[in-house]
Amino acid sequence: DAVLGKSSVVTPELGTSRFVRACLRQPVDRTPVWLLRQAGRYMPEYMAVRKHHSLLEICRTPGVAAEVTITAAERLGVDAAIIFADLLLPFTPMGVDFEFLAGEGPVVHTPIRTLDQVRALRTDRVEDLTYVAQAIEQVARHFSAPRADGDQLGIIGFCGAPFTLASYMIEGGSSRNYVETKRMMYGDGTAWPLLMEKLIDVLAAYAAQQVEAGADVIQIFDSWAGALGVTDYREYCLAPTTELVRRVQALGVPVIYFGVDTASLLPTMRETGADVIGLDWRIPFAEGWKAVGEGCAVQGNLDPITLFAPEDVLRARVREVLDAAAGRPGHIFNLGHGIVPGTPVENVIKTVEWVKEFGAR
Ligand code: CP3
Repeated sequence: DAVLGKSSVVTPELGTSRFVRACLRQPVDRTPVWLLRQAGRYMPEYMAVRKHHSLLEICRTPGVAAEVTITAAERLGVDAAIIFADLLLPFTPMGVDFEFLAGEGPVVHTPIRTLDQVRALRTDRVEDLTYVAQAIEQVARHFSAPRADGDQLGIIGFCGAPFTLASYMIEGGSSRNYVETKRMMYGDGTAWPLLMEKLIDVLAAYAAQQVEAGADVIQIFDSWAGALGVTDYREYCLAPTTELVRRVQALGVPVIYFGVDTASLLPTMRETGADVIGLDWRIPFAEGWKAVGEGCAVQGNLDPITLFAPEDVLRARVREVLDAAAGRPGHIFNLGHGIVPGTPVENVIKTVEWVKEFGAR
């Protein structure tokens, strides 16, 4: 099919990065590893930068965002660097004001709940986000030479999926029951599809800037897709997400598609055509890979809270994930959701070292 054909066209140039090779289910010398939220509040180097800058200042200052991205990747010795940014950055050029409040997470001051508000969302100012592309350029320049082991570090750009971003816009922040989001989804056959269409346009253009700047892979975060039953996901979110995946793959890069609490959604998420499906930590790895099927790579899925466990427990859990994946090309080791504040850095570093040791072919 056209999508998979596109991926195989780009394969030869991407051959030097074990992370990108694994995304394309090509053979690798060892399982590649990176970690969700690898740059964040658990890391003293990040907190030192946070002392002088707000989260949004870091995101919007390319030199600082690049530094935070590079420091985390080098400190941990991982095989890929994810650009330091946030899911909500595209709200600003769409005309949706938000801020991050300490202890509360993101807050959207005027939630989008009516058709008129959806109509007023702008899609023509995505160039306002070029600070992210500039940060990616700096990260790509920094990692342009192969590392000591000959491997090219992978550079990951990212964006939110239409459903997850819509949920922040409509709820005005994090949510428990997604009542307003589902109210629009079920009840407004004009506003919901228009919102999906506008988000797809903005996100595809934003991803294009990131790829142009040097991102090797784009991860699409559908963090809260698990709030949907399979029927609703299929009816209201599968087509928009599939369209976004298709447009990003048309840029010539593999797509990783990740959500939390997705055990029942995995076979349907696979229908988006994403090259890699990210598993959350609740599902046993082998079961998750079985659910997405053969023709797809898989990323995951250590419970991030096992990073607080005693060394022998943590080591056994790392091995368990690798054992479940053994023998199949197309596994990228990761957590099943982001590292949380307070996680001991030394356990994170040890985890990366164990993956390198146990994941060798
Ligand atoms: O290295 C990395 O992975 C960090 C880069 C990154 C951030 N946000 C920076 C950030 C990434 C990949 C994101 C994506 C993101 N943002 C997601 C998807 C990932 C996931 O966890 O499912 C989501 C849901 C958001 C929205 C968001 N941003 C929330 C809900 C919060 C508050 C979370 C909390 O624990 O307080 C943020 C803030 C945020 N974005 C932080 C970081 C490092 C922590 C706050 C800070 O540094 O002040």
